[in-house]
Amino acid sequence: MVNVAVMGHGVVGSGVVEVLENHRESIAKRAKEEINIRYILDIRDFPDSPYAEKFTKSFDDILNDSEVKVVAEVMGGLNPAYDFTKKCLLAGKSVVTSNKELVAEKGAELLQIAKDKNVNYLFEASVGGGIPIIRPMSQCLAANEVVEVAGILNGTTNFILTKMIKDNMSFEDALKMAQELGYAERNPAADVEGHDACRKIAILASLAYGKHIYPNLVHTQGITKITLEDVAYASSWGGVIKLIGQVKRLNDGRIDITVEPMFIEASSQLAGVDDVFNGILVRGDATGDVVFYGKGAGKLPTASAVVADIIDCVKHLKARKYLYWSDGDESLVKPYSETEYPVYFRVEGKERKTTLDAVLKLFPDARIIVRANAPENEIAFVHGSMPVYKQEEASDELKQLGVTVKSKIRISDL
Ligand code: HSE
Repeated sequence: MVNVAVMGHGVVGSGVVEVLENHRESIAKRAKEEINIRYILDIRDFPDSPYAEKFTKSFDDILNDSEVKVVAEVMGGLNPAYDFTKKCLLAGKSVVTSNKELVAEKGAELLQIAKDKNVNYLFEASVGGGIPIIRPMSQCLAANEVVEVAGILNGTTNFILTKMIKDNMSFEDALKMAQELGYAERNPAADVEGHDACRKIAILASLAYGKHIYPNLVHTQGITKITLEDVAYASSWGGVIKLIGQVKRLNDGRIDITVEPMFIEASSQLAGVDDVFNGILVRGDATGDVVFYGKGAGKLPTASAVVADIIDCVKHLKARKYLYWSDGDESLVKPYSETEYPVYFRVEGKERKTTLDAVLKLFPDARIIVRANAPENEIAFVHGSMPVYKQEEASDELKQLGVTVKSKIRISDL
């Protein structure tokens, strides 16, 4: 029998306990050992829980118990999760986690400690909820050079955008629904401002390129500025708006890495990824495109990925998995202002004629797009590939001509 501890009894933590207890026998068969939850750590009281006797408020109970071999850290956030994880690894315990913030910020350091201590630090649940992506990328696609990873990595924002696109629902109502369904982060700003997707693409980039890509190096923009007007223009252009995390390897050895809303053509595989689903495309030099699809958030999908990692640790108590990357720095990332892409603009001036003149002066190749019930002085257009710094210079010049840029959204090549 192998003893484990579960740190955190929120949405994911309670799911982990539920999955371990409800599938006790089949899990024991797969792990070739019975798995016993010895402790559940939480500062709150759960007197009515059927597992009440397992609860502790003291992390030291777990740390000092040499019979606890595997710890699931499902607390979220950097503190105290970082300190607890580090101490567990240093004490020779394997750790599994769904905590993308911690992996994205401290992955290189924690993986190095795990390596030095000959234990495992696994984090399948940190990206894509229940979708297997970390293991396939580190093992099944290991023979490939990953050229690009791009995807819908945040269930909450995809749920909100889907409700806006399909049901004309307001942003606030859709966010409230996502929170009630247990998809959103404790602070939903992490979802809607793009930070959650940023952490996930940073993890996938680190895995793909073997060097830690820190989240502060990723140009990140969320969906709070997306309006129903933009959704209508995207539809008239022939697609939808999705929040996309993307990383590409460049010829000079650096990477382009971004999180931002994008226009996606209706024919793209990612355009049909709706609701809480995530879709992740991995482009390998040998495999071509491989697409992963499934529920990217929620209690049981995420818990099942955590439990799969627990099983893997139990099966490899005396062997390390080869999940690893070394530290990295900003020289790996191309500055966002130098990135080039086609773009959509929605602008507003005093009246149509002068607004259109200003647009065509600065964007002679602009293709105007329309939507129903647009005000006379609103103009929307798409333009071919242009470096970001030039897009910004042109936006400043529009302003000087009395035209306000209401929206500017990248057009994807996916
Ligand atoms: N808040 C996250 C999401 C949870 O909506 O995708 C899963 O990481």
